[in-house]
Amino acid sequence: MTTNRILVVEDELDLNRALLHRLAAEEFAAEGVRTTAEARGLLGDDWDLVLLDMRLPDGDGLSFLREVHERRPELLVILMTAFSSIEDAVTAIKLGAYDYVRKPFDFEELLLRVRQALETMVLRREVRATRERSKRAHGLGAIVGQSQAAQEVRDFVRRVAASDAATVLVTGESGSGKDLVAKAIHHESRRGDGPFMTITCTAISEHLLESELFGHEKGAFTDARSQKNGLLELADGGTVFLDEIGDLPLPLQAKLLRFLQEKTFKRVGGTRDITVDVRVIAATHQPLPTLVKEGRFRQDLYYRLKVIDGMIPPLRERLDDVPLLARSFVQDLNRELRREIRHISPEAEQAMLRYGWPGNVRELRNALERAMILGQGDTIRIDALPFEIRATDPSRTPPAAVAAPARADDGRGGTFGSEVAGGRFIRLGEGFELETLERELLTQAMGVANGNKTRAGRLLGLNRDQVRYRLEKYGLLEQFSPQASKSVEDA
Ligand SMILES: Nc1ncnc2c1ncn2[C@@H]1O[C@H](COP(=O)(O)OP(=O)(O)OP(=O)(O)O)[C@@H](O)[C@H]1O
Ligand SMILES: [Mg+2]
Repeated sequence: MTTNRILVVEDELDLNRALLHRLAAEEFAAEGVRTTAEARGLLGDDWDLVLLDMRLPDGDGLSFLREVHERRPELLVILMTAFSSIEDAVTAIKLGAYDYVRKPFDFEELLLRVRQALETMVLRREVRATRERSKRAHGLGAIVGQSQAAQEVRDFVRRVAASDAATVLVTGESGSGKDLVAKAIHHESRRGDGPFMTITCTAISEHLLESELFGHEKGAFTDARSQKNGLLELADGGTVFLDEIGDLPLPLQAKLLRFLQEKTFKRVGGTRDITVDVRVIAATHQPLPTLVKEGRFRQDLYYRLKVIDGMIPPLRERLDDVPLLARSFVQDLNRELRREIRHISPEAEQAMLRYGWPGNVRELRNALERAMILGQGDTIRIDALPFEIRATDPSRTPPAAVAAPARADDGRGGTFGSEVAGGRFIRLGEGFELETLERELLTQAMGVANGNKTRAGRLLGLNRDQVRYRLEKYGLLEQFSPQASKSVEDA
């Protein structure tokens, strides 16, 4: 255990000595000074606590307290004050003194307060350390990448975090890092210690969504047996992340707009206006202007949200981040999966650099996770990568339009076990399924075509609708769903 260091600032010589004596007896390392000037000189040292007299020959305790607060905001101060100056004591607490004792005091009582203060100090240090760890894990440091685009994203986070109140809209394709960016903004802002609440506007009924977000009063609807606080209240002092804002039902859009403009709202079934201090970050992978044109999204809300908006570019437009991201994921996954992968083979890396990543960074992480689970040794090799990524290797893959000869393997099934062979023969055997082959060719073509159905169709001798039909049939539509930028050329 470390010895706690206490600075005693007390001009009365007897009391000063007595204090040092008692504190030393309790195994504290205490030093005494008799003026603020001396105390000021020692303030830079490594103290855990200050015992500060209110009246000192060269200045009053309160102004010195202010100084401590400015120079060493984490340092706890117990003020020692005569009974008559009780009002000052109240001021002192307001100014940030941790505690005060009235003179003349009982030493036992003082020691009790000293111990309490030191316990508080330990707790506060722990909280600070946790906070710093969490900032490292979720703040700017969590956004990996050295591409121009990645740097711009970090710059965006930095600037938005500094301007505290404004609403933010984050757009980008699925898996591109919208959650990550929203969390980073929160953690880098002064709200970082406050709550971060997420709500996904998709796949949840309008009424449930409304009461989740705004809360409800008792009896507001049949099931409302008690009053409930919504996320906006729970997030007071922090951030609410509205994911998939494009799916927010129109009536709730109106209610949200009112909240953004006036900072107040009413619980469902309530009449009282509730005011909270919450920053809203919204995200969507859908093109909001299109939704506005289609009448599915309020134009006024869109304009309100887009005052500060940032687009995270798809991974295929910043492929130079792939190696760095891959290494960072391998490190994380080594811990998670208890593996010790040290390398990524050049072929694997090349394949990853050629691939279009329709599922963006999430797809990269998933691909590596799969490779680490299936592969062996300390290197990630191209064979362990998912089919569609391997398929970008020109030396391995015959043009898909030649109806890639392939071999279904030992019945492990799915896309995973199969392999493209070199010849024109398809080795038939037990467990072979035509559908597996079709599914693989489709996935491969979509990968090569960067998720563009028309182009994939050209490789397979199909038209766009036929490709779409098959994607749907194999449940691949989601994985290759058209994104904002793509849907334009793909339409
Ligand atoms: N620049 C990055 N550095 C490190 N990890 C990243 C980066 N971008 C994304 N990720 C990781 O990729 C995964 C997907 O990111 P995230 O969930 O933020 O995407 P999203 O845009 O919210 O996706 P969706 O639209 O599906 O909600 C997460 O595991 C995230 O941590
Ligand atoms: Mg997300």
